[in-house]
Amino acid sequence: MTEHDCATTCPLIASRKPYYKELTAGRTYLWCSCGRSKRQPYCDGRSHEGTGLEPVRYTAQRDGEEVLFCGCKHTATPPFCDGAHSNLPGGYKDAGEDADVPRPDIVAPDADGIAKVDGRCFVISPGDAGEERYRLRKLVAPSTGAEHQSQFHLSLRDGTSPALQAAGTDAILWFTTGQGTVEIGNRSFALQSPCGIYVRSGEAFRLTAETQVIGYISACPAVEELDTPSDLPAHFDDAWPDRIVAIDEANRTAMGPRWFQMLVDKRIGSTTAAQFIGHIPPSRAEMHRHLYEEALIIMSGHGIIWNETRAARVKAGDVIFFPRKHLHSLECTAPEGMDVVGIIHPGDNPGVNY
Ligand code: FES
Repeated sequence: MTEHDCATTCPLIASRKPYYKELTAGRTYLWCSCGRSKRQPYCDGRSHEGTGLEPVRYTAQRDGEEVLFCGCKHTATPPFCDGAHSNLPGGYKDAGEDADVPRPDIVAPDADGIAKVDGRCFVISPGDAGEERYRLRKLVAPSTGAEHQSQFHLSLRDGTSPALQAAGTDAILWFTTGQGTVEIGNRSFALQSPCGIYVRSGEAFRLTAETQVIGYISACPAVEELDTPSDLPAHFDDAWPDRIVAIDEANRTAMGPRWFQMLVDKRIGSTTAAQFIGHIPPSRAEMHRHLYEEALIIMSGHGIIWNETRAARVKAGDVIFFPRKHLHSLECTAPEGMDVVGIIHPGDNPGVNY
């Protein structure tokens, strides 16, 4: 295709970020795919003429349905944003050098290791279990302001943990340290950190440590506490036999100068929540929001989580909780970069932001 052909037939970038909209049930929306409409993100009925590009129809399922219509017109999931905008020229903006971005005061953590930022956003340090053989600490739950997920920090020095169950919800586990065995119902899997583990709703699990095991247990949707059945129930959903996920450099997705790799997601049966690992080079993202709720585990490095009126330092081991639609920006201040593991719910693509 010549440059002239592309000027008339390629989609144009109308906006380098998606358009947030709340829709009306049953109403059909015509999304502009050519980028030339004067009524973005919708088709104006004529600007696409001669481009060979047609608008895409979407009928809203319910009142108040929240969507992000693609503005860059390069999405692979039209009419919705799939994060492709971050990889277009100028699509990813590093706010670190920008004198106009907010740099509010940095708050210190309290005696429980919690630094409250704006709204319901906070940073929590799980702390050290010391000499305790087994410890489970609640980090994120409805009582701390979460609506869609919970998270618990587990430390098992030796022996076997109690049976654990997130009643009526899926559990998504991430282990940073140690090796041993995880039993899910009547199945047993080798646990070799670092790795993610998926436990389906209705199943329970139990850990046996060969070396000290440290990990994070997320429940999606949220529960206030994990149940501890006296015996491990035998139920295991054979329809989804693969439950362990590991880091695999071949499966990285670029997001500007950052990258992420999906761990637990729909490929192993998790349809409404997802776990990913990501890397952030020394940089500060511009302020943005997500439609999903997120708990972000800092695996290595250090940085600052910026909100509009407050900020907090973060370091390896900490967890940052982000409510849905919360305005924020994470800065990595470590020269070697920062590795993170995120759990998002509801949602399946950590690359989508607005
Ligand atoms: S705005 Fe086009 S993919 Fe996000």
